[in-house]
Amino acid sequence: MARQKRFRARLPLFWSAVVTIVVVYLILVLGTPLLTTLMVGTERWIPMPRTLLIMFIIVVLVGIVTHVTTTDKRIEEFKGPVLSFLRGDQDGKWPAWARWGRLAGLIVLPILLGGFVYTQTKPSVTSPTALRIQHPTIPGAFEKASNPFRNPDGTVKEIKVLEEGRVLYQKNCRPCHGTTAGGDGPMARGFRLRPINFRDPGTIATLVEGYLVWRIKEGGPGLPPVSSPADSAMPSWKEELKDEEVWKIILAEYETAGVEPRKPEKLE
Ligand code: HEC
Repeated sequence: MARQKRFRARLPLFWSAVVTIVVVYLILVLGTPLLTTLMVGTERWIPMPRTLLIMFIIVVLVGIVTHVTTTDKRIEEFKGPVLSFLRGDQDGKWPAWARWGRLAGLIVLPILLGGFVYTQTKPSVTSPTALRIQHPTIPGAFEKASNPFRNPDGTVKEIKVLEEGRVLYQKNCRPCHGTTAGGDGPMARGFRLRPINFRDPGTIATLVEGYLVWRIKEGGPGLPPVSSPADSAMPSWKEELKDEEVWKIILAEYETAGVEPRKPEKLE
């Protein structure tokens, strides 16, 4: 007890307030997550939610203000270092380091504060919260397109074409869409909007082939505004692949995924 008193008597009120805030901040940012990580037994660091952190810091600030303002003596003591910092070396008694230190502080503090306000208020890129239309209406030009490599009953005309399609698929699409079109290619995990699992009967099996031609040729950049904002990584292939190759890939894509395309509705 006696030791603690001596320590507090030596540290001016202003600096003990600063030290308190720093210590509490470190406990909240490093100590608590470490403790929760140990208690829960996970390997992943469990950070403290930001809103909670802000709330705790506010409570500490309120505590400090209450403590400082209880007596006039404390208020005077607290103001001391602040006023002498602002007033500077009035009667030429400060050592050189203190004078330079004050000057550096006067330059650095506004920059730090400005930087803090800037980072807090600058707009940042976040995932859109609005729902996005996964399958926008297909442009008319693609709607009636039918695969030249299929018989009218939907079967594949030549097995050779299917094989070419498989090679083209593995070469161009596998990195993202995966070897078996499961949406699990090695690059897929890098995207926020991931390629979907085409083996799922709710995906390409519900689409006509013309729709795929459109999506493959135009890719993410060609999505209409109703599907935006979303960072679709799907490239536009109209420059790289010939129409014929796109049809071959589609043939192979359905076969690889083990599903059938939707049949276009018979109009009139
Ligand atoms: C760089 C990674 C990447 C490559 C390479 C890629 N895709 Fe995609 N693809 C995506 C992503 C991501 C999506 C989902 C985007 C979305 O929903 O807008 C997607 C969506 C699609 C869709 C639309 C599915 C739907 O339900 O609307 C089709 C069809 C498609 N890709 C086919 C292909 C084909 C064929 C190739 C090869 C020629 C290919 N992709 C190459 C990343 C890729």
